[in-house]
Amino acid sequence: MKPLIRKPCVVANWKMQGSFEKIETFLKQLAHNMVDVNQLEIIFCPPSVYIDSVKKLILKNKALHPLKLGIQNTYCEQTGAFTGEISPLMAKEIGCDYGLVGHSERRTLFHEDDTLVARKVLAAYHANLVPILCVGETAKERDEGKTFEVLSRQLEVVFQQLSFEWLQTIIIAYEPVWAIGTGVPLASESVEAVNVYLRDYLARYDEKLKHLVRILYGGSVKGDNAKSFFAMGNVDGALVGNASLQVETFLTICRDAVSIMNQ
Ligand code: PGA
Repeated sequence: MKPLIRKPCVVANWKMQGSFEKIETFLKQLAHNMVDVNQLEIIFCPPSVYIDSVKKLILKNKALHPLKLGIQNTYCEQTGAFTGEISPLMAKEIGCDYGLVGHSERRTLFHEDDTLVARKVLAAYHANLVPILCVGETAKERDEGKTFEVLSRQLEVVFQQLSFEWLQTIIIAYEPVWAIGTGVPLASESVEAVNVYLRDYLARYDEKLKHLVRILYGGSVKGDNAKSFFAMGNVDGALVGNASLQVETFLTICRDAVSIMNQ
């Protein structure tokens, strides 16, 4: 049983996929089959260009009102000559409550380093956007036994600049890089071991954080394996990529989250 303060959470990250038509269909079906939102927070991260329209669709349909919106990436400044970037303030203005920061695709494909990720987290907080901070090791780092070392490095740069007030609301998504989009997740027992490590790491900043901060798992979470992660005491939900594109699969994951994490 999870402490009630850590409400289970499932995030749908559509990445650069889908279309407005697909999103409309997805939301319609989600509305018809909505899970118990008192027991689960659902955060939808569509491609940024659709967020404003998605917000309007949510407002039009009461069943969707509890659905939260997240942005997949924001910049580390709030305004200025930064062609192509979106500021956290802008994301907040169009209806986002959450923002992914430091997703491994951003770190790898767009060369975002720990320092930039830390600046983005800080900018998100200044705009009242709650960061979902993604951390995780590569296959090579895992093989070399460096998983904890890598996670500590990724977290330290971010954590050292945040007050307790901010830190207590952060969501951490532990996503081993090699498990993302490959269909091969990390075994649930190993995920649990990492999340226990992350909680102990949080306790170094403040003992209370260990109990307050939600830590999700991401990396090939699917309809037939989500349960195994949710059954672990230190996993508070999932960050779902591919499997969130199919509404039925996504709903299966959400239902499993409700039934298992609220037992
Ligand atoms: P995946 O993606 O579920 O397709 O592995 C997860 C993620 O990138 O957050």
